[in-house]
Amino acid sequence: MATSPNLLSIALDETPDPPLRPLPVPVAELLGELGAPPRLVAHLRAVHDVAVQLVDWVGRRCPGLEMDREAVVFGAATHDVGKTVHIAELSGPGARHEEAGRDLLLAHGVPPGLARFAATHASWDKGVGIEDLLVSLADKVWKNKRVPGLEDLVVAELSRAGGRPAWEEFMELDELLTRVGEDADRRLAWQAAHPVRA
Ligand SMILES: [Fe+2]
Repeated sequence: MATSPNLLSIALDETPDPPLRPLPVPVAELLGELGAPPRLVAHLRAVHDVAVQLVDWVGRRCPGLEMDREAVVFGAATHDVGKTVHIAELSGPGARHEEAGRDLLLAHGVPPGLARFAATHASWDKGVGIEDLLVSLADKVWKNKRVPGLEDLVVAELSRAGGRPAWEEFMELDELLTRVGEDADRRLAWQAAHPVRA
């Protein structure tokens, strides 16, 4: 399938408000090939931008924490790709996009370790690693949704790796998430400006 120039533009062009990092080019090309809904591309870009902020912050805060930064970035950029086939789940509830998204990525040659985020982004309570937790967290905080149980799991990882008390990690994380959350309305408006169907 030919790549739609419009989808590439949503994925990669400079955004006036809020400024969002472009999606990784291979991800943008894959979404174009799949004919992903414009709103999905916008959503993935917003969540990817927040995930980069989170993973960079964790890297600075806790350099001792073993973490695959690129996996978090890729995972955030593709986590909802299954909504390409389950379009109704873009505007309504449903979890069919999770397995479908992983299968879609695997079918396009993405290694299982990177394709997994499409299936795990809603299952942070299943003993997943810091990379999965950060993708899940980005998928909440982009719209300023706070999920205490998820944040506690991230705090526990930071505390374990950095040797600092959990309350201290919580305060620092809370400050970051509050800051990130301040742009949520502008991210939501930017996403909503893109139609569900091309
Ligand atoms: Fe999402």
